[in-house]
Amino acid sequence: MSEQRKMYADLKDELLITRDQIAVRVKEMGAEITRDFEGKDLTVICILKGAVVFFVDLIREIDLPMTMDFMAISSYGSATKPINGKDVLIIEDIVDSGMTLSFLKENLLSRGAASLHIATLLDKPERRRVPLHVDYSGFTIPDEFVVGYGLDYAEKYRNLPDIGVLRPEIYE
Ligand code: IMP
Ligand code: MG
Repeated sequence: MSEQRKMYADLKDELLITRDQIAVRVKEMGAEITRDFEGKDLTVICILKGAVVFFVDLIREIDLPMTMDFMAISSYGSATKPINGKDVLIIEDIVDSGMTLSFLKENLLSRGAASLHIATLLDKPERRRVPLHVDYSGFTIPDEFVVGYGLDYAEKYRNLPDIGVLRPEIYE
């Protein structure tokens, strides 16, 4: 608890998204995904490490049978898990330039996924460098560096329950 209060001192005073707002939105997204994937052969893929916190909350709001997998960016290309015929839902923390997910999307489709959709908690559309269709987006945010709820700066702050903007003096 005291650790957490220390971490909050590194954030701008106003939280960007509170844990309560996140919980409400994650429930809505889970309900929408449940409707859309009814009758499909659903596999969810968690993109490590940032999406972990969002992932564990979101999957518990999806009321469907599913299998799951975990991928780190460095292993995208070499992953050999069978996804032939699966309806794949990628779960990501934030879409920024879009480079990571556009690459992964092509990769998974070329390996025979029946369908491929993207769920992200956060989207920074101003930063996009390649076109990418995002199917489920929790919150659209401005071009600021955020941490918490899985998102890190130098591997820290992932365990903050809320999302805030890091004070620029922390990384400058
Ligand atoms: P991109 O869409 O390929 O540029 O990659 C997005 C990745 O950049 C995310 O998975 C995060 O790891 C990281 N990222 C982008 N913006 C932020 C941020 O505001 N806070 C923390 N990580 C970020
Ligand atoms: Mg990430």
